[in-house]
Amino acid sequence: MFQWSTHISCLFPEILAMIFSYLDVRDKGRVAQVCMAWRDAAYHKSVWRGVEAKLHLRRANPSLFPSLQARGIRRVQILSLRRSLSYVIQGMPNIESLNLSGCYNLTDNGLGHAFVQEIPSLRVLNLSLCKQITDSSLGRIAQYLKNLEMLELGGCSNITNTGLLLVAWGLHRLKSLNLRSCRHVSDVGIGHLAGMTRSAAEGCLNLEYLTLQDCQKLTDLSLKHISKGLTKLRVLNLSFCGGISDAGMIHLSHMGSLWSLNLRSCDNISDTGTMHLAMGSLRLSGLDVSFCDKIGDQTLAYIAQGLYQLKSLSLCSCHISDDGINRMVRQMHELRTLNIGQCVRITDKGLELIADHLTQLVGIDLYGCTKITKRGLERITQLPCLKVLNLGLWQMTESEKVR
Ligand SMILES: *[C@@H]1O[C@H](CO)[C@@H](O)[C@H](O)[C@H]1NC(C)=O
Ligand SMILES: *[C@@H]1O[C@H](CO)[C@@H](O)[C@H](O)[C@H]1NC(C)=O
Ligand SMILES: *[C@@H]1O[C@H](CO)[C@@H](O)[C@H](O)[C@H]1NC(C)=O
Ligand SMILES: *[C@@H]1O[C@H](CO)[C@@H](O)[C@H](O)[C@H]1NC(C)=O
Ligand SMILES: *[C@@H]1O[C@H](CO)[C@@H](O)[C@H](O)[C@H]1NC(C)=O
Ligand SMILES: *[C@@H]1O[C@H](CO)[C@@H](O)[C@H](O)[C@H]1NC(C)=O
Repeated sequence: MFQWSTHISCLFPEILAMIFSYLDVRDKGRVAQVCMAWRDAAYHKSVWRGVEAKLHLRRANPSLFPSLQARGIRRVQILSLRRSLSYVIQGMPNIESLNLSGCYNLTDNGLGHAFVQEIPSLRVLNLSLCKQITDSSLGRIAQYLKNLEMLELGGCSNITNTGLLLVAWGLHRLKSLNLRSCRHVSDVGIGHLAGMTRSAAEGCLNLEYLTLQDCQKLTDLSLKHISKGLTKLRVLNLSFCGGISDAGMIHLSHMGSLWSLNLRSCDNISDTGTMHLAMGSLRLSGLDVSFCDKIGDQTLAYIAQGLYQLKSLSLCSCHISDDGINRMVRQMHELRTLNIGQCVRITDKGLELIADHLTQLVGIDLYGCTKITKRGLERITQLPCLKVLNLGLWQMTESEKVR
């Protein structure tokens, strides 16, 4: 009725525990006779910590959950839901992580029956793609899950700014929030999160990871709120946010703790936007401006001036050329990953510059760079640390050439 799995871990006993977890009780008895370590792995609580139970809530016997809890299992992933969620919560009062991602059947009602009192142990809740969930569930969550650190609401398209007000009121420990494709969310909601409506809600001022991918209503005002209120933010994902513009980058450019910024497919971001970013006090390690049609060689010059500490830079499909590469490579001593796939103007000359100067490079994406040839690639493959080379379309055209 259920399977087990574990997160990748170097801890030997956990791996044993994982392997043994596939055994039934009789086989477990057999391995337990092999030696002490094996017996511990097969039965002992401590080694079950970190192990996650994955199960279909169909005919699962309610008494299963206390037995999981007794083994020290604190993380549960529900694969499908045709039985009340309250069994899980009642049976496992010390639950730490609950993954309901993709449980389309989950309703406000079902969640309401499960969360009827405080669950202080719960730190991680994944409701992504639970499309029936509305603000009313967020009210419950804000009331009873005060210690939540990670909340995933990606694709929960019925969530509105009111729901975010509730989150901002109740979940002060939140470190990570995903609002991907929550299409009703606007600047007002982001203002709540950032503590701009203090009289009503304190805000989630401890947020470190915020994903706003594909939140189409957001404008530069959201970025202003974020930069003022969410000063601990480390990772900000704004990909596919068509409503933000270059002026918004001025706000972000002073976020000292920001470490990774994703602006992929933000159609209104141009070289001027990266200029603002480069002129502030950012210490970015990762920047993604792939598929920003208005980004060209000038951006590479700005990056060399003010964002030279980047470890990862993605410019796929941007209008950059060998000239831009030339203006950047000498300053980028930290760069480990460079993604320039589908930059169709890049030639062997650009690759030569990369090979000569970006000697720390570990990964490069050249997918769809149709102007490059074997000669340029030979130079790239001589990079001493290179481990990942994506060629994609190039290989196709090359094999066609061979034919
Ligand atoms: C969702 O609920 C309906 C009716 O209650 C049921 O027929 C269906 O099998 C459920 N789907 C899943 C994935 O549990
Ligand atoms: C949560 O469930 C989803 C969907 O099944 C899965 O893709 C994801 O990896 C799970 N998360 C964790 C941390 O296990
Ligand atoms: C939540 O679910 C989404 C979608 O299945 C998955 O991509 C993500 O990794 C999950 N996150 C966690 C923390 O479980
Ligand atoms: C969720 O949104 C959909 C489409 O916008 C709507 O039809 C549905 O009634 C909403 N559900 C709830 C519970 O509000
Ligand atoms: C941010 O968005 C991109 C899509 O542009 C996605 O691939 C990535 O996984 C997202 N990152 C996070 C941390 O959610
Ligand atoms: C880009 O900005 C222009 C002018 O500021 C605006 O009219 C347009 O709607 C924006 N594009 C998108 C996709 O929002």
